[in-house]
Amino acid sequence: MATGGTLLVLHGPNLNLLGRREPALYGTSTLAEIDAELMTRARARNFSLQIHQSNREGELVDFIQAAEKGARGILINAAGYSHTSIAIYDALKAVALPAVEVHLSNVYARETFRHHSQIAGACIGAICGFGAASYYLGLTALCDALDGAKT
Ligand code: DQA
Repeated sequence: MATGGTLLVLHGPNLNLLGRREPALYGTSTLAEIDAELMTRARARNFSLQIHQSNREGELVDFIQAAEKGARGILINAAGYSHTSIAIYDALKAVALPAVEVHLSNVYARETFRHHSQIAGACIGAICGFGAASYYLGLTALCDALDGAKT
């Protein structure tokens, strides 16, 4: 039985460049294409999405804080800030909504500075390495968690 509601989807810095940004690492889908697919999949699960991209850490914090008012969960690719941002970690902890961390690339097969996620401890789980599908798998995981799916 789907429970529905609104989810926040947050894209961090440089993800507005998807499609032409290092396509060997990040694929050729644009952010608009990923967002459209996420909306289709969310609708099929009876969820609606609020989607934002920002290159600024404080603005990402603002979006997370605002999610407390109406959203039931957060799907987040904090991009470069994933590895550094105590402020985003703190915001996720503060709102206490279930959050799923996603990355297009397999961060563990890349530079060591990408192996640590500063925000992972504030998330219920993380998915990386599947390109745009990381977002879709993350959305499924978040919807399942909110729907109380058996694991
Ligand atoms: C990324 C991985 C990060 O290390 C990087 O800084 C990004 C994108 C990904 O989706 O693979 O900007 O989050």
